Amino acid sequence: MRRVLSPVNRCVLQVAKRFVDGNNLQEGMLNRVEAVIRAFDPLLTGCPMPTATPTRFRPNAGAVAADQIHMRTPAPPKLIAWSGRYSVGISRIDTQHQRLVDLINELHAAMLAGEGDSALAKILDGLAGYAVSHFATEETLMKKFGYPGYEQHKAEHDKLAAQVKLLIEKSRAHPTALTPEVMTFLQRWLVGHIINLDKKYAAHLNAAGVT
Ligand SMILES: [Fe+2]
Ligand SMILES: [Fe+2]
Repeated sequence: MRRVLSPVNRCVLQVAKRFVDGNNLQEGMLNRVEAVIRAFDPLLTGCPMPTATPTRFRPNAGAVAADQIHMRTPAPPKLIAWSGRYSVGISRIDTQHQRLVDLINELHAAMLAGEGDSALAKILDGLAGYAVSHFATEETLMKKFGYPGYEQHKAEHDKLAAQVKLLIEKSRAHPTALTPEVMTFLQRWLVGHIINLDKKYAAHLNAAGVT
């Protein structure tokens, strides 16, 4: 758990630089600091850590001085590291899944950087749109190759699309309160769906020669 403390400090510093004006602490700044800390929740509460942790984030590296943080500007840890075990053996689908991972990591990084609500909403909208088109790709393939679990899989897609739509609506109403909920949901949704469901239809397609 200690490995992410330095990135937390760095992100809080970034927010402070943007929002603190002398001794004047504004409510917006406090909300942003809270959002940044909550954005680390998935990393602090048992979700997978990034596979490669930069040296300066390792436990023995010690606290990073503020001026060093400014000079180094390291990238924040990725929420999801793509792994070969997520591959479904169909290159087109793997590429789309990797794009979804990239978009979730992009959203997470934007939250850590204290990006504004409109920037976050734009990424979340893009992610939702890409997910819907990805679902359509999978459904077309499943139908074309007569996958027997098509109806169940499509129902799961419809449910996920509705959940993402709801998250978008909630994030518009309460932008800074959704960070851990959104990130944990997206992380579990993508990884869980790929491993538990996508691999099943992919095995059917692989057997039909689709790779
Ligand atoms: Fe998928
Ligand atoms: Fe799927």
